[in-house]
Amino acid sequence: MWTFARGDLKLRLTLRVAAVSAVCFAAISAYFLFEADRSVHARIDRIAEISAKTLELQQSKIQWVNNPRREFPDLEVIAASVMMPGLCIAYRSSGGDILQRFCGGASGDSSEPPQAFAAFHRYLFNPGREAARPVLSGGSKVGEAVVWVDPAVLTTDAWHEAGRLMVVLAVALPLLCVLVYAALARALRPTRLIRRGLERIAAHDLTARLPPFDLAELSAIGNVFNQLSENLATALAERKELTRRLIALQDDERRHLARELHDEFGQSLAAIRALAASVHQGAAQDCPALLAECDSIARIATAMMETLRGTLFRLRPPDVEELGLAASLQGLISGWNGRSRGQTRFEIAFSGNVESLPAGIAGDLYRIAQEALTNTAKHAGATRVVLHLIMREAQTMSDGGSTGEIELTVEDDGRAGDQTVKSGMGLLGMRERVAGLGGRLSFEIGPSRGSVLRVVIPLAAPPTQGAEDRANVECAA
Ligand SMILES: Nc1ncnc2c1ncn2[C@@H]1O[C@H](COP(=O)(O)OP(=O)(O)O)[C@@H](O)[C@H]1O
Ligand SMILES: [Mg+2]
Repeated sequence: MWTFARGDLKLRLTLRVAAVSAVCFAAISAYFLFEADRSVHARIDRIAEISAKTLELQQSKIQWVNNPRREFPDLEVIAASVMMPGLCIAYRSSGGDILQRFCGGASGDSSEPPQAFAAFHRYLFNPGREAARPVLSGGSKVGEAVVWVDPAVLTTDAWHEAGRLMVVLAVALPLLCVLVYAALARALRPTRLIRRGLERIAAHDLTARLPPFDLAELSAIGNVFNQLSENLATALAERKELTRRLIALQDDERRHLARELHDEFGQSLAAIRALAASVHQGAAQDCPALLAECDSIARIATAMMETLRGTLFRLRPPDVEELGLAASLQGLISGWNGRSRGQTRFEIAFSGNVESLPAGIAGDLYRIAQEALTNTAKHAGATRVVLHLIMREAQTMSDGGSTGEIELTVEDDGRAGDQTVKSGMGLLGMRERVAGLGGRLSFEIGPSRGSVLRVVIPLAAPPTQGAEDRANVECAA
């Protein structure tokens, strides 16, 4: 119950309001009880006053009338007019003896208050205290009129009064709680919208906006929320654009480097090989001792050309647009199977119409697959690496959005990739490409062992447009 109350703001506030109301109610009840006690004692003070005056009159009559028909003191006359349940009127002589006393009986209600309440009431109000007024005759005190109320009657009255107040409290407090809870629930209804908005932002939906609210505080939160999500959307769009340009530049640079290597270095190696062949021909006739060196030069040049070819392949992948992604990836897999010499088996599987993928996305996916396969060869020490490419066709929805996506996974059974290892340039580059396409990348420990790299790219309009832009940059370069 307490945990629930802590969790639910409405319940928590309602309980606080109820507690404050109960305290106020207790204070009001105490005020009523004090007021009742004060008025009872004001009344007995007045009765004592009247009694003293009446007794003084009776004294004077005794002195002036020789044969008074009534004896002194005669409290019956006074008692008849002021008597109430529990009230006692008495005359006390100067010697301290009660010479006459009239007491009204207790009220009909016989229910006794609990001991604890009686003790508490006695402690707070001292209900048995009396009011005494001197009765003077010829300027000197002959006795006093004493009035009090039976403490048991006062305590019982107070107990009944408190009981009535408790009944009112028992009815009013739950009613108040229900009303406060309902009012709070109504006032805080917009917080559900705010939470839903935050959940959408957490799920990367930056189009989430909050409507204006009636409450000023919530309205201020809504404005800040809208401003924040707008800023976040702008920052992400800018980052995406920057990433896109960076990757485009990087690809451009690689292409340029590959061209330079091919045209300059490759040509030079070809020339060296041709020269070695020509020297070999000449030496065969004139100087056979040089033949071995000529062969060595030709062998080294051939080996360098092989290395150059591998480097060029990595720098400038096959034209994915021309070959298609499936064929390019198959070529990549065959290349790795050839290089691993049976130590690692590289496999590939496709699902869906992969060839319908926009060219820009296909190029990036090829680069990502290339780096992921290199990583498995470099770090995993796996016996089996499987590349999956799953195309989930885009379906245009009524609102113009599209639901398609392409998923690339590279799963190996080698050493598990350590999550704590700081991401190197390879993973960073993959992340940048994926961010540029508005997708998600995860790199996790595999179901049995090894690692799984998963990339999901939504097939929505922006990435396609971005990819087209990039293609333009590449053409222009
Ligand atoms: N398939 C994998 N298996 C095990 N570890 C991996 C795998 N791929 C990446 N890693 C780990 O992640 C790190 C970062 O990879 P990467 O960013 O490509 O940098 P680099 O390959 O230059 O070290 C690697 O150093 C390696 O420790
Ligand atoms: Mg790497």
